[in-house]
Amino acid sequence: MKKIVIPVAGLGTRFLPATKAIPKEMITLVDQPLIQYVVQEAVSAGFTDIILVTHSSKQAIENHFDLNFELKASLMAKQKEALLEKLAAIIPDHVNIIAVRQPEALGLGHAVLCAAPVIGEEDFAVLLPDVILNTGSDDLKRMVLAFENSQKSQIMVEPVPESEVDKYGIADCLGKPLNPTESTPMAGVVEKPSQADAPSNLSITGRYILSNQILALLKETPKGAGNEIQLTDAIASLIETQGVHAYCLAGTSYDCGDKLGFVKATVQFAMAHPELGTEFTQWLKTIK
Ligand code: G1P
Repeated sequence: MKKIVIPVAGLGTRFLPATKAIPKEMITLVDQPLIQYVVQEAVSAGFTDIILVTHSSKQAIENHFDLNFELKASLMAKQKEALLEKLAAIIPDHVNIIAVRQPEALGLGHAVLCAAPVIGEEDFAVLLPDVILNTGSDDLKRMVLAFENSQKSQIMVEPVPESEVDKYGIADCLGKPLNPTESTPMAGVVEKPSQADAPSNLSITGRYILSNQILALLKETPKGAGNEIQLTDAIASLIETQGVHAYCLAGTSYDCGDKLGFVKATVQFAMAHPELGTEFTQWLKTIK
């Protein structure tokens, strides 16, 4: 499997005013924009074709992965080797960044359909860039392996507090407790249920390995929660036709589309940073 869809057309209203003029995916977590972390996660899991579903106001994301000739020439003239290496590390040469537009905000399911002409007939992954996993997490790689072994689509889930189920897609695994890295058949899934209607507290965490069949189902999916075409609703249909597995996250996820989640990620990533980590952690202990 080589294709992964990253929807980036959303306007980031949860993060205003920071996102008025810059894409939310370009906000810096310690020393890299958020989008760079998720693209690196995809590359580490073996994906080579990264399909960005984007919007006219978000060209900075494509520019980040493109060659900046003037910058490169200027750094070369000054023999700034370390900085040139940092630029080269943004995206390896064998990885393609492909951009398609989502002209209207009609939902995550619609965003995935916008990528259909590039996906073609292959199975593919979807990665939501608001969710950042801890560095070194190999959950996405494990999901690809689980898909290859079982031929069942894999949806990443993790438990959330009962009071938060209405923010997420929630999986029904028939009450079976899920251990990290385990993959188990899903009996159903529902987008942003009320606490009373939620089948469990297992939330969808923004990583999906999907059978190509989902595209045909998405085309038939009517508008659902929030009056949008929901990927979750098409997954509910896929459970009926092919079966779908829930994969339980082993790493740690941060909702960086949310201000508090972003601040928590900033502290964790700064503590784990190879250059800044030790000093930052010591300083953190001194603040009152
Ligand atoms: C989307 C999905 C939802 C998932 C969530 C994860 O919702 O529709 O199923 O749980 O991402 O972050 P959104 O956050 O775009 O409203």
